[in-house]
Amino acid sequence: MQVCEVLEPIYTVHLDGDNSGLIKKVVDLYFREGDLIADVTYGKGVFWKQVDLEKFNVIGTDIKTGVDFRNLAYQDKSFNHSVIDPPYARITNLQGMVDCYNTTRYTTHEDILQLYRDGLSELKRITKPGGFILCKCQDEIHGCRQKWTHIEIHDFAIQELGLYSKDLFIQVNNKNPKPLYKQQHARKNHSYLWVFEVI
Ligand SMILES: C[S@@+](CC[C@H](N)C(=O)[O-])C[C@H]1O[C@@H](n2cnc3c(N)ncnc32)[C@H](O)[C@@H]1O
Repeated sequence: MQVCEVLEPIYTVHLDGDNSGLIKKVVDLYFREGDLIADVTYGKGVFWKQVDLEKFNVIGTDIKTGVDFRNLAYQDKSFNHSVIDPPYARITNLQGMVDCYNTTRYTTHEDILQLYRDGLSELKRITKPGGFILCKCQDEIHGCRQKWTHIEIHDFAIQELGLYSKDLFIQVNNKNPKPLYKQQHARKNHSYLWVFEVI
């Protein structure tokens, strides 16, 4: 069992809108010095900007560097922990986003969920029992209906993969995005970070 040695309490709600600050808190709470971590959606590596990488061994890959998280070449149970932060919303062809959100261009909510299912299945395979899978996600509206993505991901992780939902962090987006059209639901100004334990 992990023993938490933190001086300041770590809260579930992260208010400063910064992914790297949230990941730093999760690492302080759940990771141990020397741990080997697979970040399979490394992107620009923003997640790790506040983590002391002398103490943690982060192997970052991304589809942009030729590694698709749906088919990883790693051996079973080869990492202490793993991290996935896929494109979590559908887009069409918004300038500047196509590059980052490449695999979800012209997709449906079901496609987004399938991306998570395939990725989480691979992360369960490569992560050691007792290790954690960090999974960033956000709910979305599709066809004028709420899609509670974080619940759908949770249900898949628990019921299909047998993971334990150890924690759930909420990150508040301080930029307060404005509705782009006539508002029919509350605009989402938060995202989630699941911490699933492999058992
Ligand atoms: C929200 S960004 C991740 C940002 C990253 N956490 C950071 O700190 O910079 C989503 C990333 O997922 C990558 N991606 C999308 N589909 C992928 C796939 N099938 N396999 C691997 N990476 C993928 C994109 O290229 C993009 O870099």
